Amino acid sequence: MAEPDVSSTLHLNLLLNANGGNHSAWRVADDPVANVLGLKNYIATAQAAERAKFDAVFLADRLAFVENPAGWLWSPLEPITTMSAVASHTERIGLIVTASTTFIEPYNLARMLGSLDHFSNGRVGWNIVNGYNPDAARNFGLTELPPREKRYDRMYEFIEVVSALWDSWDDDAIVADRTSHRYVDPEKVHRIDHVGEHFRVAGPFNVPRSPQGRPVYIQAGLSADNREFAGAIGEGVYTNLQSVEEGVVFTQDVKRRARLHGRNPSHVLVLPGLVPHVGSTMAEALRQQEEVVEASDPDGLLHSLNVMYGTQYAGLGMDDVVPASELPERSFTMVSTPGVFARLIRDRETTVRDLLRLMDVDAHRVLVGTPESIADDFGRWLGAGASDGFTIMPSLLPSGFEDFADQVVPVLQERGLFRREYEGETLRSHYGLPRPVVDRG
Ligand SMILES: Cc1cc2nc3c(=O)[nH]c(=O)nc-3n(C[C@H](O)[C@H](O)[C@H](O)COP(=O)(O)O)c2cc1C
Repeated sequence: MAEPDVSSTLHLNLLLNANGGNHSAWRVADDPVANVLGLKNYIATAQAAERAKFDAVFLADRLAFVENPAGWLWSPLEPITTMSAVASHTERIGLIVTASTTFIEPYNLARMLGSLDHFSNGRVGWNIVNGYNPDAARNFGLTELPPREKRYDRMYEFIEVVSALWDSWDDDAIVADRTSHRYVDPEKVHRIDHVGEHFRVAGPFNVPRSPQGRPVYIQAGLSADNREFAGAIGEGVYTNLQSVEEGVVFTQDVKRRARLHGRNPSHVLVLPGLVPHVGSTMAEALRQQEEVVEASDPDGLLHSLNVMYGTQYAGLGMDDVVPASELPERSFTMVSTPGVFARLIRDRETTVRDLLRLMDVDAHRVLVGTPESIADDFGRWLGAGASDGFTIMPSLLPSGFEDFADQVVPVLQERGLFRREYEGETLRSHYGLPRPVVDRG
């Protein structure tokens, strides 16, 4: 069998949203409102992740208010604006922002991300999504979400346009020569003249080429269409994978697709979400998890499932069994995660409490353990080629991350699984990705 295409060390991102990923995290946070709406929490947690030498912090996003009985606010603040502030208080850590290709013009987004890449000195990643929430569509002049195929079509064309814009300045286009009175060499700034089904963009772009050339293209998803997009364009994938076996199948598929597109498969990193509960003993880790479960509002979880997966759950208590028969294999707007959820509960009787243990943060893998057992698990995933690392999604922020950084990271470093120092300055260098080369020949 061919060697798996994985890097020899882990890559770790940290999801930075809200008070942590759990719906009820706000109920146990010290300052649940300022944590979400103020900047202090985002900056302090990103700085802690930088001290732990994480590859990047990551902000997920939704373009609509999702009313939830648990009172949860997941992503009220716009990610690019938020990360701009984080950028000015950090130096090395990557900054990944989510932006949907369905509801913005490519020129606008290219400028925002290009600007952020400039003033963060090359630390930007873009989580490219195309939306799944009909409420978002209603905020942008539409009555319904465009059909899935249309959203994907627009996403591909969107990437074509923004890539052309980001590539349209030669690296040496800025001359800034006082003697010749020339700031820019216009010969080195190129129009793009894009005419397509969704966009007409002439250029030239007005943002010079940024340190990374383009932001790192991250892709969130699991479906075959998402995997194809990742193979064609993605440089990182954020996804839901529950087991090493699932990870091997997914990762091999994404890398195979990358190869078919003539790309180096090690230039697309698979970084599934992971919810850690860390304790110095297994009993302590389990106790921590139970504290989160007991603080959780069952209605909040059920409501989220209804919104995400089109179920109709209501009025279930902690010990009631969740009826798997109501589960669709795919929902109207999204293919990626309903299947994961279905596989989690279909073949076993699952109460709401069990579900809160299994789905502490959405349908992401929950790992309860000691620093050593968590490092063993990571080593197994990496060794099997099941992923290139993880997107760490603590139930509670900042406490869940502090536990991980203080206890797990040193063990990973001692085992040579994770860096002790950053080697480069940009997110591309942390991930081992090349800077895109523009061939005008
Ligand atoms: C792990 C994961 C994270 C995602 N994060 C976001 C997000 O933050 N914002 C968003 O609008 N969509 C997000 N998505 C949605 C996907 O990017 C995609 O648009 C959606 O899954 C529809 O595509 P599909 O039908 O092929 O699954 C996420 C999907 C997955 C699987």
